[in-house]
Amino acid sequence: MTTTSPTKTQDIIDHHDKHMVVNIGRYPIALVRGRGCTLWDAEGKEYLDLFAGFGAGVLGHCHPDLVAAVTRQASQLWHVGNLFHTEPQGLLAEAIAKHGFGGRSYFCHSGADANEAAIKLARLFGRAHPGTQGPRFKVISTVHSFHGRTFATMMATGQEKVRAGYEPFLEGFVNVAYNDLAAIEAAIDPKTVAILVEPIQGEGGINIPVEGYLAGLRALADKHNLVLIFDEVWTGCGRTGRYFAHQHWNVTPDVMTLAKGVGGGLPVGVMCAGPRVADLFDHRVHHGVAHATTLGGNLLSMAVAATVFQVIERDNLLSHATALGAHATARMNAAAKSIPAIKGVRGKGLFLGIEIDPAAKGAWFKSTKEVVDKCLEQGVMINGTQNVVLRLAPPLVLTKAELDRGLDVVERVIRGS
Ligand SMILES: Cc1ncc(COP(=O)(O)O)c(C=O)c1O
Repeated sequence: MTTTSPTKTQDIIDHHDKHMVVNIGRYPIALVRGRGCTLWDAEGKEYLDLFAGFGAGVLGHCHPDLVAAVTRQASQLWHVGNLFHTEPQGLLAEAIAKHGFGGRSYFCHSGADANEAAIKLARLFGRAHPGTQGPRFKVISTVHSFHGRTFATMMATGQEKVRAGYEPFLEGFVNVAYNDLAAIEAAIDPKTVAILVEPIQGEGGINIPVEGYLAGLRALADKHNLVLIFDEVWTGCGRTGRYFAHQHWNVTPDVMTLAKGVGGGLPVGVMCAGPRVADLFDHRVHHGVAHATTLGGNLLSMAVAATVFQVIERDNLLSHATALGAHATARMNAAAKSIPAIKGVRGKGLFLGIEIDPAAKGAWFKSTKEVVDKCLEQGVMINGTQNVVLRLAPPLVLTKAELDRGLDVVERVIRGS
């Protein structure tokens, strides 16, 4: 199959700029084809993809099993609406329950959408279990978190810049320091109903919970009758070497949200709720539709997402991600010995952060931007966050040879050689 396109990069960019809202700064690159961990631009230049479109391409580009699943489903049935039952929805819900903590799934389209559902469910819980001052509705989340850009989720997101300009704000949200149980406890008041936390902060810089943090959140939720919500939008579906990141610490939430990887590149959001709370969305309990969206659970997305779990299990991708993550961490730690600008490496599985120090001896860059741009020039896609953390979140099907090829470039670029 040809890797070039009849339409050239500049024409594709001009077309975008003429007709689309320019809501995000894009690289001057137009991609036309992908296979596995490789992407090609319109002129046929090849890129090694170590970021998988913010982690969503969890099985890489055009994985044959996903292509087969979507093709099969595309010729059978696409969309019938939520008034009918369909098999692919049940199959995906079963896979999430089997690999997670049981629970019942609600399907939507994105991470923000899934968190919005979780917050609404928590508010119903707060109404069913009021505090001394009436219905409880406050959600505690953490500084540097990211939970989405809808009106509720931008409030839960612990980054002011995400909500700048959108006043008046929705009330009932408080952001406290991550990895600080005392800060959470201090924020709990009679109106508090939920704690919403990413088990590993993604946009915040691949921040790992200190030992006892997640268990401490569980204990606080139990003590104060709160809904514990883990946002696994980044960390779910094998990304960290377990199906879901909370499994590393053996702590079970009441609600887990998924997006990105679960759809394998198609838009899927999931809110999976355990028995303490799931029934509050039951229309027979709520006496009406508590929450829904027209295309949630559309059959192309569902068929692909169910297959994502089958492939992860069949191909042992959890242990593969664990092994490759350990290899990358060891390599970068070794490189740090001779490159002072590498401050540290953290992560789990194939969710890795390399912290760089622009003030270090020999550092030629001011922030991650220059490093990411240089890697791109050299055909390797990575990402930067919080100015100093390079992020790697490649497809789980990455080979060791591909990883080493990518890390050779990353190391060379940081070193400035
Ligand atoms: C942890 C987390 N939750 C939620 C979201 C929002 O997901 P989406 O962009 O699909 O709305 C993101 C997006 O980056 C995220 O990282």
